[in-house]
Amino acid sequence: MARIVGGIGTSHIPAIGLAMARKQWNEPYWKPFFDAYAPVRAWLEQVRPTVAIVIYNDHGLNFFLDKMPAFAIGAAAEYRNADEGWGLPTLTPFPGDAALSWHLIESLAAADFDLTTCQEMLVDHGFVVPMQLLWPDREPGLVRTVPIHVNTVQHPLPSPARCLRLGEALGRAIESWPHDERVVVLGTGGLSHQLDGQRAGFINKPFDLFCLEKIVDEPELLARYSIRQLIELAGTQGPELIQWLMMRGALGPAVRALESNYHVPISNTGSGLLLLEKAA
Ligand code: DHB
Ligand code: FE
Repeated sequence: MARIVGGIGTSHIPAIGLAMARKQWNEPYWKPFFDAYAPVRAWLEQVRPTVAIVIYNDHGLNFFLDKMPAFAIGAAAEYRNADEGWGLPTLTPFPGDAALSWHLIESLAAADFDLTTCQEMLVDHGFVVPMQLLWPDREPGLVRTVPIHVNTVQHPLPSPARCLRLGEALGRAIESWPHDERVVVLGTGGLSHQLDGQRAGFINKPFDLFCLEKIVDEPELLARYSIRQLIELAGTQGPELIQWLMMRGALGPAVRALESNYHVPISNTGSGLLLLEKAA
């Protein structure tokens, strides 16, 4: 049976992708940020997941304001990125696992979560920046991927509580897949940031640290916030936290944090990193 080996929450800021393309690992601005990923990469090398479920929000590459599903899932053999205007390189495609995707789609529909199914899906920085951070020397085919998009762009957005519940159903769906896979679940985005408007540049470090702490043992507490409250507390892009909540839900009731890191700012964002394992 498939087993969830862990969950990772990480920011997905495009500037990180640019810094990686420019090999700026050791520059003073970037070194402390990149160094925090070393223990998570060491954990990945030890656990060697075969599949990554990547929960992120598309920012306008695959979906735009004219058609914006609340939740969408890839069911393709591979996923490509494309120019989004950030200057990020176009990468070799990420392998998918269409059979697992369809199992997740059917299991989630049976649990009353109907996801938009995408047999073609471009993946943006919300997917590729974390994948590059976690597998910088990606061997082709080493990790298959299933992208799951959550709308944090076009209001109304799905509520934090609904995302936590969907994550729980996703965890059950993964663990009912009758194949020996080691699955890691990524939740990407956040933490606090506001890219435009009167509060552009807004970051709330105390709230970010509160979220990093509470998501481990008290995710229900975070799930009680409304989207409006998350925007007040964490900026207009702060609701990207709902992807972390979905990841947390997939891990089940009890987890332990193996790594937790906060670095502020990276670009306009309070950048968070969290590695969770299911508690036995
Ligand atoms: C930034 C952060 C994001 O989450 C994003 O999607 C785009 C930009 C930033 O801080 O620059
Ligand atoms: Fe984002």
